[in-house]
Amino acid sequence: MPVVPAVPGFPTRRLRRLRRTPALRRLVAQTRLTTDDLVAPLFVADGLEVPRPVGSLPGVVQHTIPSLVEEVRRLADLGVPGVILFPLPRPRDKDATGSAALDPDGITRRALEAVRDAVGDDLVVMADCCLDEFTDHGHCGVLDPSTGDVDNDATVELYADLAVVQAAAGADVIAPSGMMDGQVAAIRTSLDAAGHTNTAILAYAAKYASALYGPFREAADVTIVGGGDRKGYQQDPRNGREALAEVVLDVAEGADMVMVKPALTYLDVVAEVRGAVDVPVAAYHVSGEYAMVKAAAERGWIDGPAVALEQVTAVKRAGADFVLTYFAGELAEVLHD
Ligand code: PBG
Repeated sequence: MPVVPAVPGFPTRRLRRLRRTPALRRLVAQTRLTTDDLVAPLFVADGLEVPRPVGSLPGVVQHTIPSLVEEVRRLADLGVPGVILFPLPRPRDKDATGSAALDPDGITRRALEAVRDAVGDDLVVMADCCLDEFTDHGHCGVLDPSTGDVDNDATVELYADLAVVQAAAGADVIAPSGMMDGQVAAIRTSLDAAGHTNTAILAYAAKYASALYGPFREAADVTIVGGGDRKGYQQDPRNGREALAEVVLDVAEGADMVMVKPALTYLDVVAEVRGAVDVPVAAYHVSGEYAMVKAAAERGWIDGPAVALEQVTAVKRAGADFVLTYFAGELAEVLHD
C-alpha cells in the first residue's frame, strides 16, 4: 500500500520527496534558528561570595560580578548577540519603594558597568527595568497605601529614573517589564532628557500574568506579599486582542522593539503581533518553560536538547525575530557545531 494513495493527475509524494535527505531539508527549511536569534537572561546578586545555583532552573545561577563577567565573555565568544541582566539586591536592602535599584553605588550600576567594560560593543546589553526584585512586598512598583494596589503613576516615575541609571551604567537597551500604563513614554522622555538618545527600549508589551514565572521568582528571590499575584497589571491569559492594543500603544510611545511573554503558550499572540507592527518582535521563553524541559529531561522522559531546539525554533517560526531564553548558551553551543 502506498503511503499516499495515487490519485490520477495528482503529484503524489511531492511533499515527502523534499524531506528525503538532510541536505534537501536544509535547502527548503523555512525557519532558521541561529545563535544570532538568542538573548541570555542572567542574574547577578549583591553580596554573594560564590555563584549560587538556582534549584528550579538547572544550569542557571545567581552570579557574582566576577562570574557574571566570565559568563558574558563566554557568551560573546559563542556568538550570542545579547544578554538581559537581572541585578538582585541583598535581602536586607529591599524596601517599600525598591530604592536599592537606583542606588548609584548599588548592584544595578556595578553589574552593568562590569559587563560593559568586559565586552564593549560585542554584546547588546539589556537591562530589565522593574522593581520587584528590590521591593520588600515583591510587587513591580510602589503600592498605593489606600488601596494596596500598585500605584501606576508613582511607579512609572521610578522606572523613568531607573532607566537613566541603567543607561548611564552602559545598558544599550532598557526593557521595562512592569506592565504599567505609560511606562514606555516616560522612559523615552527621561532617557532623552538625560542625553541617552541612543539607548533603545524593548517593551515587554504583551506580558501575561503567567504561572510560568514560578522558577524566576526563586532565581530572583521574589515573594509577593500575602500570596498575591500580578493579575492587576499583567495581562489575562484569556485575552488575545488586548495584546495588540498594548503593542500598538507601546510603539506609539516610542518602543523600538516589543516583546511577547511567555513564548510557547502565546504563539498565537507572537504571530499576530508580528503581523501588526514593523518593529522587531521578541519573545521570552520563560523560566517555567525552561524548567519543564529540564525536569522531564532529567527523568529521561524527553530528549532535553532536542526539545529545547524544537521549542525555540517554534517561537521563531511563529514570528519572533529573537528569543530570550535560558537555553541561549546551550543552544549556541549546539548551533555552532
Ligand atoms: C519582572 C520580571 C519577571 C520575569 C521577567 N521580568 C517576573 C514577573 O513578572 O513576575 C519572569 C521571567 C521568567 O519567568 O523567566 N521583573
